Amino acid sequence: MGMKAKELVIRAGIDLDALLKELNSAYCDEWLAYYQYWIGAKVAEGKMFALIAQELAEHAGEELEHAEKLAKRIIELGGTPAISPDLWLKDSTCGYLTPENPDAMHLLAQNIQGERCAIEVYEKLLNMVAGKDPITEHLVREILEDELEHEQDLEDLHNSCNASAKTCDPKPKAGRK
Ligand SMILES: [Fe+2]
Ligand SMILES: [Fe+2]
Repeated sequence: MGMKAKELVIRAGIDLDALLKELNSAYCDEWLAYYQYWIGAKVAEGKMFALIAQELAEHAGEELEHAEKLAKRIIELGGTPAISPDLWLKDSTCGYLTPENPDAMHLLAQNIQGERCAIEVYEKLLNMVAGKDPITEHLVREILEDELEHEQDLEDLHNSCNASAKTCDPKPKAGRK
């Protein structure tokens, strides 16, 4: 914990307990998103599953990075990131969409839903800290940007795979990560 980190947040008029609760909930969401993508990439089958699985695996890695960054900030602010997987579902906002149907197009649709929820979560967090806590604000903006990009990547893939029965032709990612 950083004494000053905590002090700055409190002095800015932020309810620290409420902020830690939201950060921890987002942290739980990230672990669930990580696993949903990771296992989705393993079980995917059907049309263009290899291409879709590759995208899901890439996103999995980025969700784990988000969890890492959130854990660091939670600890700086004197909180404790969820210490047991039991808490991931309990404290999550977006929950977990089990990939019971391994069809790659179905997995894409599930993950698009998850990204849309994540975007709402980070928008809410941004509203809590904007103009008050620059460190958390920077972190939340960074993650929000990634989640918006994730949604767009999956939508592009979903649309291009839907459009053709035989091939997926994702838009070139020039200019995007
Ligand atoms: Fe994320
Ligand atoms: Fe994401």
